[in-house]
This record gives sequence, structure tokens and C-alpha cells, in this order.
Amino acid sequence: MQLYTTKWMELSTHTKNILGLQLPTDPRWVDLASISIEAILTDHAYCEQKAALTCISYIQRYSDKDLLVDSLAPIVTEEWGHFRMVVQELRKRGHSLGKQRRDEYVNCLIAFQKKGGRIEDRFLDQMLTMALIEARSCERFKRLSEGLEDEYLRNFYRKFMESEAGHYTLFINLADHYMDKQ
Ligand SMILES: [Fe+2]
Ligand SMILES: [Fe+2]
Repeated sequence: MQLYTTKWMELSTHTKNILGLQLPTDPRWVDLASISIEAILTDHAYCEQKAALTCISYIQRYSDKDLLVDSLAPIVTEEWGHFRMVVQELRKRGHSLGKQRRDEYVNCLIAFQKKGGRIEDRFLDQMLTMALIEARSCERFKRLSEGLEDEYLRNFYRKFMESEAGHYTLFINLADHYMDKQ
């Protein structure tokens, strides 16, 4: 099964709008975000770093799942490439990477995951949590790609939006592939 092929343009209109997210980000969020592009870039850089680290940890944890290993290995490279791109943007603007902030959204999602029980159930929770995180990133990047005044940054975020949409699909497909369907 070829997983990592879904392009943004191939998604349905419903999926393109919100990727199944129940609560859309308020469009006015972009106005707040644009007040400090430095803070947005710093938070974004750490999101990319965590995405790469999480994929590495799943490769270690689920080393017997060949499809997962083969699918996530290139995503590690891609997410780390994203991290480097965002750090480069900070540098261009004369900023350091800055300190990592607590990510309440991700922490709450992780707290919601199953603890104990069957490893298959935990696996499903982990894949779906990653899909949700990717979906939210994609949606936020869409807002930035549409709402920022700077054309360069709008294009910059459009590329990330397309990439994270593909990751959302990948994690859904991995959950589906390995899910116990009995
Ligand atoms: Fe990314
Ligand atoms: Fe991603």
C-alpha cells in the first residue's frame, strides 16, 4: 500500500476545510499571530522538532511494523527539514531560536490517550493523536497562508500546509492498516 501520496488538492472540500476538526480556529487568530512573527516561528520550529522526535520514537517502539518504519523514516527527514527552514527564517529576521513553551494543546491530547491495556489500543490512540496534531497544524498554516500580509510568508506557510495534510493522511492510514478490525 502506498501511503504518502495524498496531495492537498486531492482532498475533498470538507476535508480541505477542516480535516474533520470539530472546532475551527477563529480566523482572527491570524491577527494575533501576526503581532509577533518571531513567537510564531519559534513555536513552529519546536512543533517540527517534536514531530521528528515523535516519529523516531515510534520507529523505535514499533520496529516490527515494517510499513510504519518505512513510512515514518522519510517523515523524520522531512520534519527535520521543516525545523531547519523555520530556524533559517528566524535567522533571516535576526532572531535566535528562543525558548520552548509548554504546548497545552498537545499535552492535553497526550493526557487523553489510553494508559495501560492492550498495546494495539495504545497504538491506535497514538496514531490518531498524531493525525489530530497534524490536522491542527495544517489548519493553522492554512490560516497563516491566507491571512498574513507578507506574501512571502503566505507562500512559506502554504507549503507547510500541504505537507502537514499529507502527514495527517499518513497517520490515519497507519491506524487503519494496523487496526484490529475484528
Ligand atoms: Fe512539518
Ligand atoms: Fe507533520
